[in-house]
Amino acid sequence: MRFVVDDLTDLQAVEGPFDLLVDYGALDDLRAEDRDLYVRNVLPLTHPDSRYLLWCFEWPTRWWERLVLAMALEPGEVERRFGGLFQIERIAGQANPSGWPRAFAAYLMTRKGAGL
Ligand SMILES: C[S@@+](CC[C@H](N)C(=O)[O-])C[C@H]1O[C@@H](n2cnc3c(N)ncnc32)[C@H](O)[C@@H]1O
Repeated sequence: MRFVVDDLTDLQAVEGPFDLLVDYGALDDLRAEDRDLYVRNVLPLTHPDSRYLLWCFEWPTRWWERLVLAMALEPGEVERRFGGLFQIERIAGQANPSGWPRAFAAYLMTRKGAGL
């Protein structure tokens, strides 16, 4: 096993492709422009049929939440960002409106075929 430190918005050391990617709370921590870069950097780490498990905070963020810091994906954002290249299955989600975090979701995605 090899541990590597890298920047998900500008990968220098990590090379794929991998059969499985796991993100536990990194993408939702990034601001919108860095989420774009993340997707651009992560896609080459996959191959057709790679699986990608994404766990994230996810709720309709309030304006001040977006202003203060990035903390949650918007509902529908995973589909918008990954739906073209991945078959998306939402495998878990829970809302906690009066507590913190307000909601989370987990997605299992499978990269579509080479022709896409
Ligand atoms: C909410 S924490 C989740 C950490 C970890 N998954 C856990 O369960 O404790 C988000 C993590 O993303 C890391 N992170 C933020 N921006 C990053 C980037 N551009 N590249 C790689 N990691 C980043 C932060 O350093 C932080 O450790």
